[in-house]
Amino acid sequence: MRIRKAVVPAAGMGTRFLPATKSIPKEMLPIVNKPSIQLIVEEAAASGIEQLILVTGKGKTEIVDHFDAHPRLEESLERAGKYALLEEIVRPTKLVKMSAVRQQRPLGLGHAILCARDLVGDEPFAVFLPDDLVDAPRPCARQLMDLYEKTGQSVVALMNVPREETSQYGIASGTVNPDEARHMLISTLVEKPSSAEAPSTLAVVGRYVLSPRVFHYLEHTTPGKGGEIQLTDALAALALREGLGGWLFDGERYDAGDVAGYLQANLNWARKVPRLWQAVQQYVQRHS
Ligand code: G1P
Repeated sequence: MRIRKAVVPAAGMGTRFLPATKSIPKEMLPIVNKPSIQLIVEEAAASGIEQLILVTGKGKTEIVDHFDAHPRLEESLERAGKYALLEEIVRPTKLVKMSAVRQQRPLGLGHAILCARDLVGDEPFAVFLPDDLVDAPRPCARQLMDLYEKTGQSVVALMNVPREETSQYGIASGTVNPDEARHMLISTLVEKPSSAEAPSTLAVVGRYVLSPRVFHYLEHTTPGKGGEIQLTDALAALALREGLGGWLFDGERYDAGDVAGYLQANLNWARKVPRLWQAVQQYVQRHS
């Protein structure tokens, strides 16, 4: 079945970015000149997603505004003949059809996904965690969608991490598909295990393609790590009963929810603009 919808949980408070996120959502912090959420929506659209469901909380209206038309600004740019800028502000409004649902209480990522249940309905869907930015030759979500369409099984994006970092991620273990080295058949999934307890060093990155069956497991998931309803726990149950794939994606992931990762993401995307990259290089030369 074709995957048309995506859920983007964006209700988090962004505490790692205070004071910047005191009055603006962390998803609106820019990567070069675009709010980071725009990179997520661009990846979704490039992957073939048509409808995106944002799960938001208090103080997140700017995100929805960013993807809405702004007639006054559009008219003023048009009158001034600033057509390139006009295109830059209109393009994001046309990428996907967007709707938003509120997560009323911060009960965890699993609960946030459950809030989108009615809007997703009975069809497979993608999940994008907006802190995770992935620069890839083929959009990371598209890589997962290809596998879902082939196997009919839910799939999570995986990458290898140093053992001392397992406590920051969902960690998966299982067996490798002998015909496709990037494809794992996951048997175990644990949320943020200590390095001693981690069953492997394969970490879940914030891209998932899920069968609507996941809602059934989410409904029955009790609070786990940090007292929150964890998507990882629901997927661990789903893995046991229905099978779960893991895909070692081709691409590079940046944790834009972390200050160092955010700066690296900015450098990565600045590298694509020769004028900016030259300025960065000159700066580094002067200061090293
Ligand atoms: C979430 C998930 C975790 C996953 C991570 C990827 O954690 O719970 O399993 O590995 O995203 O970024 P968070 O970083 O939101 O705490």
